[in-house]
Amino acid sequence: MTEKMSTHQAENDARNENILIYVDGELKPRAQATVSVYDSGFMLGDGVWEGLRLYQGTWAFLDEHMDRLFEAAKAIDLDIGMDRDGVIAALRETQQANGMQTDTHARLMVTRGIKMRPFQHPSLSRSGPTVVIIMEHSRPQLPRPIRLATVPHLRGLPMTQDPKLNSHSKLNCILACIAAEKAGADEALMLDVNGFVNTTNACNFFIVRKGEVWTSTGDYCMNGITRQKVIDLCRADGIPVHERNYSLVDTYGADEAFLTGTFGAQTPVGSIDGRTIGDGQLGPVTKRIRALYKGLIEKECA
Ligand SMILES: Cc1ncc(COP(=O)(O)O)c(C=O)c1O
Repeated sequence: MTEKMSTHQAENDARNENILIYVDGELKPRAQATVSVYDSGFMLGDGVWEGLRLYQGTWAFLDEHMDRLFEAAKAIDLDIGMDRDGVIAALRETQQANGMQTDTHARLMVTRGIKMRPFQHPSLSRSGPTVVIIMEHSRPQLPRPIRLATVPHLRGLPMTQDPKLNSHSKLNCILACIAAEKAGADEALMLDVNGFVNTTNACNFFIVRKGEVWTSTGDYCMNGITRQKVIDLCRADGIPVHERNYSLVDTYGADEAFLTGTFGAQTPVGSIDGRTIGDGQLGPVTKRIRALYKGLIEKECA
């Protein structure tokens, strides 16, 4: 049997047993870093989060991450209880307490906080938000290209739960991932409400056809920061890139496919629904984009 894999696979690092976790202004050892069972994030998935990466002492694309976090919080009417500088200071405090410098991943989470009673109404959260930062030593590890399966779970319209929100509740994506695993794949490829190929359950999705890079219009997927960087890098380097609708027929017939996300940068896709994509390995255009992105990170995090 092929071993189980995910796009967020990191090398085992024993140091992660002893990390300090930021919980509402305090740094706590992992075993003591807990939130209340009345927390609206635990109870209802009522919160927003960001995943960030530290390279050579610099948090990559920090402005973009802060923009997205504060926009999401505003959209769900959640007061983070601190301004951008406060959030960044908390991030740096956690980094310093853990002595982290590079190959580090942070999950920064803000929920509506502790509820008075165990019911849905947001007004029951009265004591302010809960802010947690988990920071781990993390070197992505990918033994082979990823296998995707398309699933019945769609990327929805913005008037239900806007897929652009990095919400704590990820049930739609989790169900998609479970369906993909049951189909023998690693992760799910999700279609939009019109049947066009959109994104995966945890990353943005690209294909390469005859030297051109295609990705979805962006209407139903997370406005991924890595996605935008890849589009910008292609434009700057003369690689034709299109944000457009395309179908599974275009996708199965692609020369290459890859995923993007803060954690894994660009992850090659080997097969989709049992069809090998290209030769099933990291392709030349993906390789070129990976090199361009590495160069961008080196410039940004010099
Ligand atoms: C559903 C989904 N798509 C894509 C991404 C990738 O976004 P980014 O490149 O900003 O990490 C994420 C990451 O949070 C995500 O949750």
